[in-house]
Amino acid sequence: MNPYASGYHEPVLCKAVVNGLVSVADGCYVDATLGGGGHTAALLDMLGPFGRVIGVDQDSDAIEEASKRLAPAIQEGRLSIVQGNFANLPVLLDALNISAIDGILLDLGVSSHQFDAGHRGFSHRLNGPLDMRMDVQMSESAGDLLARLDESELRRILRKYGEEPRARAIAHAMLVDGPPSTTAELAAIIDRVVAPPQRSKSLARVFQALRIAVNDEVEVLLQVLRDATDLVRPGGRIAVIAYHSLEDRPVKRFLRYGNLKGEPIRDLMGNLLAPWRPINRRPISADEEEVQRNPRSRSARLRLAERQPLP
Ligand SMILES: C[S@@+](CC[C@H](N)C(=O)[O-])C[C@H]1O[C@@H](n2cnc3c(N)ncnc32)[C@H](O)[C@@H]1O
Repeated sequence: MNPYASGYHEPVLCKAVVNGLVSVADGCYVDATLGGGGHTAALLDMLGPFGRVIGVDQDSDAIEEASKRLAPAIQEGRLSIVQGNFANLPVLLDALNISAIDGILLDLGVSSHQFDAGHRGFSHRLNGPLDMRMDVQMSESAGDLLARLDESELRRILRKYGEEPRARAIAHAMLVDGPPSTTAELAAIIDRVVAPPQRSKSLARVFQALRIAVNDEVEVLLQVLRDATDLVRPGGRIAVIAYHSLEDRPVKRFLRYGNLKGEPIRDLMGNLLAPWRPINRRPISADEEEVQRNPRSRSARLRLAERQPLP
């Protein structure tokens, strides 16, 4: 049983996240992917009376859900909720007069609610418009994106963000008769091009690729990792939960070496110059019991690191 689960979303690796993240009981923490507020609720329970959480999400459904669920903490002044993209974190925090924090959580990707709301267009299992915007104020939906891409650009997106081996054939089929405008039309195209048993993997990969492109997920992740390095005080922590290797790889490199190439930089004495020290050698995964209860936790990889003193 996960006491922080709700009908909106079940937070994954909840204990490991709060135990790993909180180093100062009365510190200031950012949950940059608030969602249904499950991790934030667990953080608030873990913190002392003067501990504070800033919850950020770009999705207005998440803001509404978490604001309702966590209203008492907001009233007590222990929680502030802000709608915005975590790529703009310094600006969002500046508006709250916050320039340094003790820890930050990034639970990447989409919530169960976003997947389960057919009209948001995230799931190939439910029919709906090809939308996929986490922030519905953004100008370009997946349908708009497909309407403007040519075949080679679409192929590149399917390869880069979906690692899809049948990218060429799928991109051609998607655009040859005009792009699909619903999730069911897109799923039917992939059904025609890819035979089982690869079909279900291709479906997931193509939907993932479009979602990453629409929400610019790789770029905003790199931006928030850089900003976290400036915002988190020495001794403070970062917790990142990634659900696929496109996210986990840059996170691993950045937390180990402080850069995205994964190249160590050393001083004249040979000491590694890195702003973060990983806390675990390997990422933390959900145990069998959690995976049984919440199959979406199967692919979760949690990495924790501590901000090092400034040289
Ligand atoms: C996996 S869910 C987080 C669930 C949350 N930990 C909970 O306990 O309910 C990811 C959330 O992050 C949000 N999100 C993803 N990318 C974002 C970004 N760049 N800026 C702000 N929010 C983002 C999504 O809208 C979604 O609500």
